[in-house]
Amino acid sequence: MVFLVVLLTALVAVVCCQTALETNLATSATSSELIDPEFGVGVSGTLVNTSSSLLRLTAIPGVCDGTKQLVCASCTTLRVCLGTVPGQDLTVTCPTDQPYCNFGTTSDRCSADPIPDVCSDPTQNVPVTCSAVGKLPDASNCRIYHGCLAIGESSSIYTCPAGYVFHPGLELCALENLFARCTRLQCSANFLGHVRYGNSLRFYGFCDGTGQTPIVFKCPNRANFAFIAGTTFGECVYACPAQGNFPNTNDPATYFQCFWANRRLRYNVIRCPAGTTFNATLRICT
Ligand SMILES: *[C@@H]1O[C@H](CO)[C@@H](O)[C@H](O)[C@H]1NC(C)=O
Ligand SMILES: *[C@@H]1O[C@H](CO)[C@@H](O)[C@H](O)[C@H]1NC(C)=O
Repeated sequence: MVFLVVLLTALVAVVCCQTALETNLATSATSSELIDPEFGVGVSGTLVNTSSSLLRLTAIPGVCDGTKQLVCASCTTLRVCLGTVPGQDLTVTCPTDQPYCNFGTTSDRCSADPIPDVCSDPTQNVPVTCSAVGKLPDASNCRIYHGCLAIGESSSIYTCPAGYVFHPGLELCALENLFARCTRLQCSANFLGHVRYGNSLRFYGFCDGTGQTPIVFKCPNRANFAFIAGTTFGECVYACPAQGNFPNTNDPATYFQCFWANRRLRYNVIRCPAGTTFNATLRICT
């Protein structure tokens, strides 16, 4: 029932925006639209009301209460209860062949089926924990993207109009064609390390070795993702524009401190004092 409502909402949203899109295309560029000479026009997605699926995700207790040895920490993770002090517990992700946590009497367990009426249908789009501020692609569905206001918070889901896919260069939805392809991130079993998001130098994924859907990350402005030679891991390499302090577009609570060393511009990532954020105009934390 709830799923039906979500589906209907999504349908209405798509219909509404198709009209909005046509109006946008007919008139000139608006703030919700970006033109790239190579890729054409990008459009914003439509915000999806995911409050119902969020409610269902938080319905899992996930507390080590002294009665169970293993408890479901989420629909797909299991907590091993080791001690009485919070933080002593270990959280593990259910494996690919039994991806869902299920309740048991003396111990919860991983299973092939999700908990009925509590956990999401795997085909339903669920918010992610934000790894950066701004827009992030979805690892498995190229027709939606995530909007993030703060790191660690839950994302808002935006659906692209019909026939459109998330375009990593525009960071908007673009008409699916040769230059705007549907990109999907996958982790092969046991692979631990990073994976590229198509040809993007900005977006990439992390595989945790369980074969689960990767966590999506993004490099800040002026930083490109590059693999470290001889490893399956990569990092965002920031290109300092000059000596001085520069904003980290992924996280307003940190900044890049660029300085000359051995005739090269190098940098450190500095965290602003608690409660302050980096002011790009003043170039200090305020
Ligand atoms: C989202 O849906 C819930 C009920 O599922 C409703 O209470 C809430 O007002 C909706 N929010 C928006 C922004 O439409
Ligand atoms: C940065 O500082 C300037 C000057 O005090 C101020 O006008 C501006 O609003 C600040 N920006 C932010 C994002 O706080």
